[in-house]
Amino acid sequence: MTSPADLASPVRLRAVSAPNQPDVTPALEELYRGFERELLIPLWTEIGDLMPLHPRSKAVPHLWQWENLLKLAAQAGELVPVGRGGERRAIALANPGLSGRPFATPTLWAAIQYLMPGEEAPEHRHTQHAFRFVLEGEGVWTVVNGDPVAMKRGDFLPQAGWNWHAHTNATAEPMAWIDGLDIPFQYLTEAQFFARGRDVLSDAERITPDRSYSERLWGHAGLQPVSAAARDAAKAPGSPLLAYRWENTDRALADQLALERAGVTSTVEPGHAAVRFSDPFTGDDVLPTIRAEVHRIARGAETKPARETGSSVYTVFDGSGTVTVGSKTWSVTRGDLFAVPSWEPFSARSEAAGSDSDSGALDLFRFSDSPVFEALKLNRSA
Ligand SMILES: [Fe+2]
Repeated sequence: MTSPADLASPVRLRAVSAPNQPDVTPALEELYRGFERELLIPLWTEIGDLMPLHPRSKAVPHLWQWENLLKLAAQAGELVPVGRGGERRAIALANPGLSGRPFATPTLWAAIQYLMPGEEAPEHRHTQHAFRFVLEGEGVWTVVNGDPVAMKRGDFLPQAGWNWHAHTNATAEPMAWIDGLDIPFQYLTEAQFFARGRDVLSDAERITPDRSYSERLWGHAGLQPVSAAARDAAKAPGSPLLAYRWENTDRALADQLALERAGVTSTVEPGHAAVRFSDPFTGDDVLPTIRAEVHRIARGAETKPARETGSSVYTVFDGSGTVTVGSKTWSVTRGDLFAVPSWEPFSARSEAAGSDSDSGALDLFRFSDSPVFEALKLNRSA
């Protein structure tokens, strides 16, 4: 019979040299070997790592350049089919501080998804909450629970966990978008479920939609349906509105900057407009675990450094500028992505010009794990 002591222990203890710590003696070494054999770890050797004075993320600030990402995604488009098994041609950002795992931050997955002309990504569902944010192109739609939702540049499509979804590219061009999910968070919590759906979509789902059912029901600003059935359905986790169109986001940001110029309180700080995507039924974040926002920084404006608990991933939707995350500063341009780990200060300066921006500003799409931190009362900012 194998006794616990015969198993190789993964625990390795070293005496620490600190105030009030005992001298290293043969008796202390013997005590620590005893802890190792019995798989025990005393707090006093670990406290600096387990209970730091402030968050010290394993993730590091990092920039992924869109030009390189897109080139590799296009190569994958030629070499790797989309279908059952792999499910999606999604290529995830791997933060260099997170041991080669496909995690942009400890809680967030960010990937470029690439769909070739005529391709279909098969239907499935999972407990992970997800969204799509389109950087280039149009003509792909996502079928969510039988509701086809069109996608084009600047559109934001949230989709809470456990809803069926598939993608179809009916155009003659490849299309690329950003997928954001809470995969690392659910990996840590070990709460994941996954199910395969139909292999073939119905003919009705193949018709390029003008407006999805969800937009016709929930896409009228300031107006909620009174129908008890519609309101009951909207109580499911996440937003009942499945697409937030760029023209509305763009207008809201432009209006904030125009109001600021007119002397009306409207912006986060001078030259910095921002909107948060929200559930039209509850007013809360669009997903239980993910917050999504777009920030517009007027040319020449610079944001004040800000830090908060929890992590973010940013995408440069439009324009160019300089961003600083902790000790790193990068020049960024359209499509670039970067990770902001917990408690690292972040600021951005807009150098957008008419030649590299539709709006003449630096437009940043941001998603974060803030709803988790707020729900658990772990949110702090400075
Ligand atoms: Fe999915």
